[in-house]
Amino acid sequence: MYNNKTVLGALGGLLMTAGLAIADPVDDTLILNEETELVTRTAAPAHMADVVDEVISGWHFRGVETRAMQADDFDNPGMIFVEQAEDVWNTADGSEGKSCSSCHEGSDSMKGVKAVYPKWNEGAGEVRTLEMQINDCRENRMGAEKWKYTGGSMQNMIALISSVSRGVPVNVAIDGPAQSTWEQGKELYYTRTGQLELSCANCHEDNYGNMIRADHLSQGQINGFPVYRLKNTKLNSVHARFKGCVRDTRAETYKPGSAEFTALELYVASRGNGLSVEGPSVRN
Ligand code: HEC
Ligand code: HEC
Repeated sequence: MYNNKTVLGALGGLLMTAGLAIADPVDDTLILNEETELVTRTAAPAHMADVVDEVISGWHFRGVETRAMQADDFDNPGMIFVEQAEDVWNTADGSEGKSCSSCHEGSDSMKGVKAVYPKWNEGAGEVRTLEMQINDCRENRMGAEKWKYTGGSMQNMIALISSVSRGVPVNVAIDGPAQSTWEQGKELYYTRTGQLELSCANCHEDNYGNMIRADHLSQGQINGFPVYRLKNTKLNSVHARFKGCVRDTRAETYKPGSAEFTALELYVASRGNGLSVEGPSVRN
């Protein structure tokens, strides 16, 4: 996406204008299907109060057409994948002859679930992403094959589970048994990596609102995932996005589904506590 020189050049340029908001997040209101007003900016959660006042959805940093696409289910290309997942939800798979609906009833029973993931699972003694939980159900409760972490079947299902939570405020727990994972994620967020020696925070905390080449830098929130990107015309997972951003710093990246990216996901999700779940959202 960027080569070494352009990122350095762009970031150098950015840093010179630090403090000058050269392109503020757009002042707009996201009303879904002319019905549900979503919270796309709100006071920062307490754990971030010393770094930013306000948390802002990536929706505010996109162009007028992209924003409009997300506001209407008929125009949102991500909703096609939600429909596909609805069929899968009701279709038996695996040695047990069960579908998701055999145990969970309608997909609307998942309302609120996306808002609290990643989440500590007491039985497994680990913080789980939705992907991990879904594959656990497939493998151990359905006798079905696991889905590829960032693959289409998995992200379609996450888009379905997310879609029924749109408007519910993100509220991941960062204390109790999840705390050490959260702290690991926080450390990753602030660690400078790669030849460019950039951390997530250098771009998404210190420079959001600024332009990096032709792109308007957001806070790197994940309340809109999975994200339909106009660039690759498919749903993109959180970990695939992390991988892309780490690569842009010319660093070795962690694998999707790794313990590191799971910890980072919990931390980044917690930076959006209070924003509405928006997925599937539309981005460039
Ligand atoms: C045989 C029954 C069964 C089937 C079939 C099943 N699940 Fe589950 N699922 C469970 C149980 C039991 C739990 C709670 C597990 C736990 O907490 O460890 C669960 C938990 C979940 C959760 C987490 C809910 C929460 O509130 O944290 C999600 C998401 C989920 N399942 C998705 C799916 C999907 C998607 C499918 C189909 C691909 C599916 N499940 C199929 C039994 C099932
Ligand atoms: C060199 C600057 C840079 C660094 C460093 C960087 N990113 Fe990004 N990131 C971008 C750009 C540019 C985009 C696309 C525009 C936007 O949404 O900010 C982006 C997008 C994102 C998005 C999508 C937001 C949305 O609303 O769809 C997430 C999530 C994200 N980054 C997370 C991270 C994480 C986590 C890290 C650290 C591992 C990181 N980024 C490091 C530049 C960077």
